Amino acid sequence: MSQDFLPLNGTDYVELYVGNAKQSALYYQYAFGYELIAYAGPETGIRDRASYVLKQDKIRLVLTSPLHPEGEISEHIQKHGDGVKVLALWVDDAVQSWKETTSKGAISAAEPKTISDEFGKVIVASIKTYGDTIHTFVERKDYNGIFLPGYQPKTSTYTSTPIGLKYIDHCVGNVELGKMNHWVEFYENVMGFKLLITFDDEDISTEYSALMSKVVSNGNGYIKFPINEPAEGKKKSQIEEYLDFYGGPGVQHMAIATDDIIHTVTELRKRGVEFLVVPPSYYDDLLDRVGQIDEDLQPLKDLNILVDRDDEGYLLQIFTKPVQDRPTLFFEIIQRKGAKSFGKGNFKALFEAIEREQGLRGNL
Ligand code: FE2
Repeated sequence: MSQDFLPLNGTDYVELYVGNAKQSALYYQYAFGYELIAYAGPETGIRDRASYVLKQDKIRLVLTSPLHPEGEISEHIQKHGDGVKVLALWVDDAVQSWKETTSKGAISAAEPKTISDEFGKVIVASIKTYGDTIHTFVERKDYNGIFLPGYQPKTSTYTSTPIGLKYIDHCVGNVELGKMNHWVEFYENVMGFKLLITFDDEDISTEYSALMSKVVSNGNGYIKFPINEPAEGKKKSQIEEYLDFYGGPGVQHMAIATDDIIHTVTELRKRGVEFLVVPPSYYDDLLDRVGQIDEDLQPLKDLNILVDRDDEGYLLQIFTKPVQDRPTLFFEIIQRKGAKSFGKGNFKALFEAIEREQGLRGNL
């Protein structure tokens, strides 16, 4: 077997550029149960931005807002609204990761640099992926500070209660019509990922909207990136709606793993997070479709949690509505019970639910 030229230990953090990081930070603490752990901004010697670092189990979210009207962060928000800028990957050797990928055709977004403070040093380097999104390689084996040099520990007077979010299961990108294969090849050739699954429009077209999707995964399977492109349908694809409102390709959703989806979704709903709704008839023949499951049907139905089965087991999943006013980024909550797939059996019910929302927005 060939050597993995880009060994990845996992997701290091996900950074969102948002219009008001101070307020977004409280939303993610309150609604999603994240804990505020660190901050960088004028008070810590950073002049152009404020960044809040939130943590729950293995997940780190960074929320960043610009302090001035000009500059890259402001332009990003002007164009895209709130959205994911950085999918950071935890590596043992950031310089090597950057060299391997740029030598294979990746465009550099930032050359390797060492940043340090009294807690040690971190080496970071970045490459571009779809749209204005970047991957930052983070080498932190010589660092034991709270997050990265430049950040200081910060806590909130609000005590958040974790709701069982554990790690990022997968992170999905939407790209333009005809560009899916380009980006699949990017992950294969430049980053050494393998194609895991293909969904064509037969699998996932509904009456109106359609899309194509391929899933790529890295060597150890810790990182999974499905890539979607719109497909021809009767009316506007949900992917086209995203591209219109995001102003181009970007991260569509992040799937967060939980060990107890009933608890997690009960808490999210209590805290005001909105989810896509499938009709009650979805549950009428559910057990015929997926067979025996450990959970009682009623709470799944009450919470609108979806179930799907593959050769290896089953999974439970649910999708939030977009978490900002533009119909762009949303979250998936997923509990895997053996299944390694992505819920193909739910695509039809799910996409019809998305289309109802698109229709309400006048975008179908
Ligand atoms: Fe997903």
